[in-house]
Amino acid sequence: MNRKIVVTSALPYANGPIHIGHLVEYLQTDIWVRFQKLCGNVCLYFCADDTHGTPVMIRARDEGIEPEELIRRVHGEHVRDFDGFLVDFDNYYSTHSEENRHFSELLYARATENGSIDKRPVEQAYCRQCDMWLPDRYVRGVCPRCKAENQYGDSCDACGGTHRPTELINPVCANCGLTPQRRSSVHYFFKLADYADRLRELAAGGHVHESVMNKLDEWFTTGLKDWDISRDGPYFGFKIPGEENKYFYVWLDAPIGYMASCKNYCDRHGLDFEVVWNSDEYELYHFIGKDIMYFHALFWPAMLIGARFKTADKLFVHGFLTVNGRKMSKSKGTFIKAETYLAHLDPEYLRYYYAGKLSSGVDDIDLNFDDFIAKVNSDLVGKLANLASRSGPMLTKKLNGRLGRLDDEGWKLIRGLQQAKDGIISDYEGLNYAAVIRTISSLVDECNRYVDAKQPWVTVKTDPDQTRITLTTTINAVRILTIYLKAVLPRYAQKVEKFLNVEPLSFADVDGVLEDHEIGRFERLVERVEKEKVEAMIEESKQADKPDAPVVTLDEPIEPECTIDDFMKVDLRIARITLAEPVEGADKLLHLELDIGGVGKSVFAGIAKVYKPEDLTGRMVVCVANLKPRRMKFGVSEGMILAAGPGGSDIFILRVDEGAEPGQRVH
Ligand code: 2FM
Ligand code: ZN
Repeated sequence: MNRKIVVTSALPYANGPIHIGHLVEYLQTDIWVRFQKLCGNVCLYFCADDTHGTPVMIRARDEGIEPEELIRRVHGEHVRDFDGFLVDFDNYYSTHSEENRHFSELLYARATENGSIDKRPVEQAYCRQCDMWLPDRYVRGVCPRCKAENQYGDSCDACGGTHRPTELINPVCANCGLTPQRRSSVHYFFKLADYADRLRELAAGGHVHESVMNKLDEWFTTGLKDWDISRDGPYFGFKIPGEENKYFYVWLDAPIGYMASCKNYCDRHGLDFEVVWNSDEYELYHFIGKDIMYFHALFWPAMLIGARFKTADKLFVHGFLTVNGRKMSKSKGTFIKAETYLAHLDPEYLRYYYAGKLSSGVDDIDLNFDDFIAKVNSDLVGKLANLASRSGPMLTKKLNGRLGRLDDEGWKLIRGLQQAKDGIISDYEGLNYAAVIRTISSLVDECNRYVDAKQPWVTVKTDPDQTRITLTTTINAVRILTIYLKAVLPRYAQKVEKFLNVEPLSFADVDGVLEDHEIGRFERLVERVEKEKVEAMIEESKQADKPDAPVVTLDEPIEPECTIDDFMKVDLRIARITLAEPVEGADKLLHLELDIGGVGKSVFAGIAKVYKPEDLTGRMVVCVANLKPRRMKFGVSEGMILAAGPGGSDIFILRVDEGAEPGQRVH
């Protein structure tokens, strides 16, 4: 009986490009899905862009476009990059879709019915300049514990402590640099603790790999906290039904995007969503990174349980990518976008390399470029592809391109290859791709030893019959090895199928052999990696480097924006200083009398350290003529003269062109 399986990968955010770090997951998942299909199972692979939330809203604002336009464009870029890496989704959808709105409202309504939603006020950082509530990561400041500067609103890189953004000392908005306000508003909470027992049962039933079980136990022991699922507007997301300015938090509707993608697929293919998503007929697996475990092992199943949907059979959790042993870095050129990689290198190199590194655990994997070049050139090109290129062209050129039959020795080699099938299948199934690649490599070595011993390039001149047997054996070996690698190298496999002149291969074909058969024309299967191309890719990635967070360079950050109408209220006039005198008891102040075209104003200005009264009398300046009079210790100040500079001894009164007359308006 064939299995039916639904598989998902985490939904990438729609605010940025796909990079080689993301690809660990998509390639891991794609290989597994292709493997299932090659076993004859029905396997549907669903994904989507994760489109909502503050970063998308900010990015759209920065670009001066609507979020809808941004997510449309990014969707196209993501699809292009995934295609480029041969990631073959059955549906790549969007969380900004009607299906997703429907399910988000449904899950929320059922949670409300169950009494799982609470409401209470929350104090949060709000930026007046950006006109938005600041997520924790958008507030930066001094760590309240160790006093390290420039830390995020949720945790400190220096001391590792966690805090609330409102606890930071001297907080600023990471987007614009202004000091945020603390404001309070009512938020909705999902009462996660109500589901603790059922989540514990789920975990005990094998929902996650044992390597992440400890983490889960830790969370259960610390206790499950309520989850804040609402955000106030302005926010890009789905409005909470019955609310004017409140939205579902992006992480509420993101995993629901898996369902939406499935529903959209079912509707387009005449399938029953209830059966595909919600029945035992289909198994369900989520592939995720270890950073989003909490969401997938706790929040997500709790919401599903609350809404009477089934939960996934298993979460497959992987580690992060490091490059040359370190975190990906823009300045080192190791933060490599999918698009940049594809402009220089073959996607199958990375598929092969990652496969060689991946296992079922959560350990991080390292992409080391020297190792990458060595593995691809020696194993993939030098050994595997070489087996085909040292047999196919010879058969075509010297022996009419016709396969003969296997002899005993040939059968022995082929039987050995066939017997490896079950082990390889079980390693694929268990996500032990590194073991698959190791097994295949040693089989390839064995085949190459066979060819070396048989020396067909010598015998072809003296014993064509024996040579045909040798080449028939070798080409059958190529065929079986290709099936074993097809999930990893689908394009390579396609080229082999064409050259073998056979229908698309699958695991069922391992047990047969190809005899008395005419093969097709051989084309090169894979090129060597050139070091220069890797270097050029890194160089290009360095050039694309630009700082992530805005750098605040102004000593005094820019104030919240004012509208043109606000600005027009300020009445700027040319004025003549008719009198300038020191102020007794205030050595920084000068008292100025201004003539604004017949209207007199008395002004106190903090410029005594810089300007002498005698140099100012008779001088033309610009003044704010309609400033509300302000009572000061030494008298009432009725205006202000314009000057620039940081203050102290660096203050410069604005100069006015000759010919200006007191009272003239300044625009
Ligand atoms: O961490 C992330 O990149 C999220 N966009 C993953 C969402 S996965 C799912 F829940 F949607
Ligand atoms: Zn701001």
